[in-house]
Amino acid sequence: MTALDAKNRLILALDTADTKRAEALVEATKGLVGVYKIGLEFAMAGGLPFAEKLAREGHSVFLDMKLLDISNTVAGAVLGAAALGVDYLTVHAYPQAIAAAVAARPKGLKIVAVTVLTSLSDTDLADAGYTKSAADLVARRVRSAVELGADAVVCSPQEAGLAKQSGLSVICPGVRLADDAAGDQKRIATPQMALTAGADMVVVGRPINAAPDPAEAARIYVKAIQEGIAHAAARKPASARPH
Ligand code: C5P
Repeated sequence: MTALDAKNRLILALDTADTKRAEALVEATKGLVGVYKIGLEFAMAGGLPFAEKLAREGHSVFLDMKLLDISNTVAGAVLGAAALGVDYLTVHAYPQAIAAAVAARPKGLKIVAVTVLTSLSDTDLADAGYTKSAADLVARRVRSAVELGADAVVCSPQEAGLAKQSGLSVICPGVRLADDAAGDQKRIATPQMALTAGADMVVVGRPINAAPDPAEAARIYVKAIQEGIAHAAARKPASARPH
């Protein structure tokens, strides 16, 4: 595996309300990051035109809107996102929302089903009225995502192995190097562990954005991803390894 392969597995979350800051982060990490993610914080502060501009410039863009609404509204939002030219759009992994998004999905847009937020523990889920553990709920929602035709799922690295068995692409936030602060994330693991467990891509925000040198932090994450890829390949039976 080359550095390019590892780089393309790193999604940088541009979590900021400041377009100038986002521009600086993109400039600093150019060539080091495969995909830029725009989420709710930036969307409220100019992130959508920024997403459109990034896409126009040829960047791969992940619009993390975590849509959950009635089907008609989800379908309309999917068309709006597609018009921005982005590559990925997230919806919460509720069957109705996935089905509406998949039905409206134009060619070229990947619908990504977010299973259970990585900031939620089993206790948080119980507080919200769920009787299943995070792992069980992820498993159920991954099954829905497969049945309804989503392109990828988001889960924590702790469920990456079970999600990978679905055959869908697996995208993991909640990724931290050993010395990084967890912040509000609860179901976390290192990039090496995420890749080894089955993640295809990892999402990293604060550990890179808030680093004194975001470019250096991105390089360190790419190296850790590379180690995870190598470890995952070494664990595969020889017959399953690429020649
Ligand atoms: O700063 P940090 O690395 O924790 O950022 C993680 C990013 O991934 C945030 O933009 C967050 O919204 C997003 N995300 C997540 N958990 C999910 C889905 C998306 O943390 N299940």
